[in-house]
Amino acid sequence: MSEDKNRYGQTTGHVWDETLAELTNPPPKWWMLGLHASWILVVLYTLYYPSWPLVHSHFKGFAGWTAIGEFKKDMKEVQDVRAKYEDKLPGMSAAAILADNELKNYVVRSAKVLFGDNCAACHGSGGAGNPGFPALVDDDWLYGGTIDNIQQTITNGRKGMMPKMGGNQLTDEEIDKLANAIVGGTITKEPLFAAKGCIGCHGPDGKGMAALGSANLTDKIWRFKAQDQLASVKTTIKHGVNDPSDPNTRKAEMPSWKDRLTDTQIKKLAVYVHEFGGGK
Ligand code: HEC
Ligand code: HEC
Repeated sequence: MSEDKNRYGQTTGHVWDETLAELTNPPPKWWMLGLHASWILVVLYTLYYPSWPLVHSHFKGFAGWTAIGEFKKDMKEVQDVRAKYEDKLPGMSAAAILADNELKNYVVRSAKVLFGDNCAACHGSGGAGNPGFPALVDDDWLYGGTIDNIQQTITNGRKGMMPKMGGNQLTDEEIDKLANAIVGGTITKEPLFAAKGCIGCHGPDGKGMAALGSANLTDKIWRFKAQDQLASVKTTIKHGVNDPSDPNTRKAEMPSWKDRLTDTQIKKLAVYVHEFGGGK
């Protein structure tokens, strides 16, 4: 079949259009080596790892590798790292945890989920605050920002109490004057502030008292923040906060967590909230 040969090598004998022929040259050597290497690799791989399906099970592979085994090994590594810290926490105060940098970093990382599950619904993600619920990231505290204050707040809960001042206590004009002075930042210069007994809870300097949770009225960080802040302040003065005698009173209650979270979880959260940046 010498006419099957053309100047490029052996052809299959198919010729089209007089000069167009199909050659039978073997593929290059490197290509053949690659082909054989790849199937050898497949065979070795399926022998090493679990692979072929059998009637009731599958071939387990000579390496003894399982996905669940690898998972357990990884989990154990994580738990070993955690145990190193977790074992210390029950015996330490929140303040002591805060003072230990490595431990503090661990706690802040591990409390993130706790905060998301238990606190973020009211205080916003990352403690940014929500209408009616105080922000925890600022440096303004109703009940004090020391680690002990914060731990107390979470453990026992808080419920601020301000009696309604509308009705017999203050006329609408007096409420107007007080509210304008508060929003304008001049409350300590307003004579009614002392005359009507506000200073008994908010202090002569108007900065509030941590023991009562009475808000700071001079810093323009609002506990009851609103679009119309003047109207909001008037409402608070008129109806008070958690005053059971006034159906329009503001409701403000931080629930207690001592029956819902462990001591260690509360300590973790106290450190976490403190480290938002607002803690003192
Ligand atoms: C049901 C809503 C709600 C949930 C859930 C909640 N809080 Fe509160 N929290 C409040 C309210 C309301 C206040 C303000 C109380 C007041 O005004 O007297 C508050 C106050 C606080 C304060 C005091 C802030 C200050 O300025 O002194 C801290 C700290 C705090 N919460 C932390 C937490 C942590 C941590 C969690 C999760 C374990 C949590 N809260 C869950 C409603 C909530
Ligand atoms: C018995 C104590 C008490 C007295 C008296 C009192 N307050 Fe308050 N006041 C509080 C407390 C506590 C809060 C914070 C409540 C909370 O958030 O739980 C508060 C909150 C406020 C707020 C809300 C501030 C904000 O950031 O939104 C205003 C405004 C206010 N008081 C004004 C007054 C004025 C004006 C008077 C006097 C006419 C007065 N209060 C008298 C305890 C008192």
